Amino acid sequence: MRGGGIFGALVCAAFAAGAGPCRAAGEIALGEYLSATCVTCHQKSGQITGGIPAIVGWHADQFIAVMNAYKNKERDNEVMRALASGLSADDIAALAAYFESLKPLKP
Ligand code: HEC
Repeated sequence: MRGGGIFGALVCAAFAAGAGPCRAAGEIALGEYLSATCVTCHQKSGQITGGIPAIVGWHADQFIAVMNAYKNKERDNEVMRALASGLSADDIAALAAYFESLKPLKP
């Protein structure tokens, strides 16, 4: 699936709320959908396993900046570069909103 258009619109229809909260909820839902790939390596709980860093509870701006650094090949990691290059700016914003919304569990 590409982009958040239809998916976001469906969530929005279910919400029947104003533009602000509606958009935020749609974004987080898209982010959760897209995160299925990410959480095969990164733990949703925020725990660090096997050298894979935790990515939950980050500020969205910071998350977006890091993902763009992989996408623009300013950060070294082949896997993350490949994944990030397949994501649109909307996808990255949605992932940032979703992972920001998660609270890391205490180990
Ligand atoms: C195959 C395993 C794997 C998958 C899948 C994966 N990552 Fe990563 N990710 C890594 C590894 C390993 C690193 C550390 C790379 C480095 O040192 O720069 C990393 C780093 C990151 C970082 C930076 C963390 C930090 O502390 O600097 C972010 C943000 C991130 N990944 C987000 C994602 C997102 C979003 C997805 C899903 C689209 C994803 N990753 C999917 C393995 C993975």
